Amino acid sequence: MTKVLRSVVTGVGGFLPKTVVTNDDLARIVDTSDEWIVERTGIRQRHKAAEDEPVSDLAVEAARRALEAAGRRPEDVDLIVVGTTTPDLTFPATATIVQRKLGCPVGIAFDVQAVCSGFVYALSTADGFVARGRSKCALVVGAETMTRLMDWTDRGTCVLFGDGAGAVVLEPQEGEGTTADRGLLGFALRADGTKQDLLYVDGGVSTNGQVGHLRMQGNQVFRHAVVNISEAIFAAAADAGIDVHDVDWFIPHQANQRILEGVAKRVGIAEEKVISTVAQHANTSAASIPLALYQGLQDGRIKPGQLLLLEAMGGGLTWGACVLRL
Ligand code: UT7
Repeated sequence: MTKVLRSVVTGVGGFLPKTVVTNDDLARIVDTSDEWIVERTGIRQRHKAAEDEPVSDLAVEAARRALEAAGRRPEDVDLIVVGTTTPDLTFPATATIVQRKLGCPVGIAFDVQAVCSGFVYALSTADGFVARGRSKCALVVGAETMTRLMDWTDRGTCVLFGDGAGAVVLEPQEGEGTTADRGLLGFALRADGTKQDLLYVDGGVSTNGQVGHLRMQGNQVFRHAVVNISEAIFAAAADAGIDVHDVDWFIPHQANQRILEGVAKRVGIAEEKVISTVAQHANTSAASIPLALYQGLQDGRIKPGQLLLLEAMGGGLTWGACVLRL
């Protein structure tokens, strides 16, 4: 078998801002209840960044922890890809701010904007550098301050989102070209711009000059999510050459417990293989997958060598899935 270069996850980190907002806290500002939110979404609480805590600060903390886990230092990093839809500034890219704050040397740094699919897109993009030997030590981060985009009078959206960041270190390692190799084994990315109206922010630099608020037709997104994600999962599994049943852990984007379970059921993944953080974190957009991975590693469920399936769907609409062996 020919040797191939693989993008291997050598460290994982996560960070959540200190302030916790419970469902009862939200029931004091909009017409909702803990009972409704738990029953329809599985969410019990979410973290909220402080006003003076930009998304780059969350990203830097997650990245520090990932580097430490990988036994690497900021000086080693030559590529930073940040998946975010809530950047510190319109420009520069949050990735370059992270680079400066961490003290990484001159290298490659840019953001990927695919909303909740941001981490899946960022990981697949970074693979294009790492698995071609163009990066020896990459940081892939999903970081969001989604609470900044909320319309706090819209109960249909403001109860769903939270803030946080997760990061992985990716390094090239030679594999045998088989599914036993460590590293990113396959992925499938999708976008359908005709579905913009289902989930978008009603502000932007070149339209009204505002930051805007998140707008969503939740039940429509829900419907598309379960069907479309399933197709992308099978496509990523085929790309990797694995059977979905071989997966040790399913680490979905954490939007809604009912979506997680619906997708798992549709693709034939047992409930006990699903990592769910939606109750504690809510929907942290691009941060949710690396945060769930971090949590699964921290509590000892996920172990090196295991086969992981990641998937997400978000504004665009964008969606996708990745298969990797840790
Ligand atoms: O990560 C990006 C992708 N986003 C998602 O994946 C989100 C996907 N969508 C969802 O998770 C769900 O659709 C929601 C949780 C957003 C909504 O759940 P649903 O079961 O689809 O409810 P619905 O939108 O059909 O609304 C049902 C009812 C409505 O009342 P009426 O019109 O039946 O009287 C809503 O006004 O629930 C009402 N409602 C609420 N009630 C209490 C909506 N939000 C709330 C709320 N508290 N927070």
